[in-house]
Amino acid sequence: MKVLAIETSCDETAAAVVDASTRNVLGQAVYSQYKEHAPYGGVVPELASRAHLERLPALTAEALKQSGLHPCQLDAVAATTGPGLTTALAIGSTFAKTMAVALDKPFVATNHIEAHALTPHLINPSLTFPYLLLLVSGGHCQLIQVENVGVYHLLGTTLDDAVGECFDKVGKLLNLPHPAGPAIEQLAKQGNPQAIALPMPKNDKSLDFSFAGLKTAVRDILAKSTVAGAAAQRADGTAPVHVAPADLAASFQHTVSTILTKKCRLAIEHLAQKGQKPSHLVAAGGVAANLTIRAGLQTMAEAQGVTFTAPPLSLCTDNAVMIAYTAGLRQLAGLPNEGLTARPRPRWPLDLTPTA
Ligand code: KG4
Ligand code: ZN
Repeated sequence: MKVLAIETSCDETAAAVVDASTRNVLGQAVYSQYKEHAPYGGVVPELASRAHLERLPALTAEALKQSGLHPCQLDAVAATTGPGLTTALAIGSTFAKTMAVALDKPFVATNHIEAHALTPHLINPSLTFPYLLLLVSGGHCQLIQVENVGVYHLLGTTLDDAVGECFDKVGKLLNLPHPAGPAIEQLAKQGNPQAIALPMPKNDKSLDFSFAGLKTAVRDILAKSTVAGAAAQRADGTAPVHVAPADLAASFQHTVSTILTKKCRLAIEHLAQKGQKPSHLVAAGGVAANLTIRAGLQTMAEAQGVTFTAPPLSLCTDNAVMIAYTAGLRQLAGLPNEGLTARPRPRWPLDLTPTA
């Protein structure tokens, strides 16, 4: 099952060719639009769409060239059709649909979250269904029991900000470039994770997440400190408190890691009580690239007798390999697909059944 896929849901333009039957990545090319969006401190949908349009033809040609396949040898063409920025999704899916029609191949409309959820399966042949997934990205923070391709149970979700969004907002407060996750991780290396006490969410037993309070706490600390220029001036005129940005970054990252680790432990315990203890804990999505978070999850999982796994860093952030693999698995499983009638969906939750 050889699939060419296009990913344009946000600010990465990507194309890939994957053989889903053999789990072989045959070709891949990604362009990250940091330069386009940097001056604005966030992703500008119109600029993202234009950059996708400009870059897609060359990236697709590159992925196909690496694969050594003639387009006629493909079994299907896929694209992310949601969730994401509507105009950005429209560019990638229209491009892929046009190729599918021209080549007379099926078009597979693919869910971006499902692709993050299934990527660990591509790189780890020993990973079997079901597994417990922590999906942590710019738009999501969810605990999902992955039963099989197409069968997902939601255990917990964020009640406010996604964890990547929280990294990005805290990074903005620290004047770091967008997306700020990698920059916070870099800065945190020089800081003390115990330097600043930050609040933990109160509801200990819930599997849901909340990050808005943490972000506000960082903002309040900065407002009373001498870092970050004007934002750091004390409103009440009393002597500013000095907070080293590296200490704040390290303390923030440590707190996020503690929250994520604790929720995953609760989810493992919750499933174990139901006689469904998972053999594997999997982390996926952009924030799963964070090595402190990975290390925290790994240590906790080992203590619980659960194997921890996460995709390589390049497959944690957005890419088309995960889209091609997911589309291929769905085709192999004979699952239904909207095909050419699919429209871009800014929101597209997996077919989730709350079970917690
Ligand atoms: O999965 P992804 O590439 O795109 C979405 O589907 O959202 O995730 C992007 C998010 C951004 O918020 C980015 O700041 C965060 O992942 N991120 C990180 C790291 N690398 C990317 N957060 C923390 N540490 C990192 N190393
Ligand atoms: Zn993503």
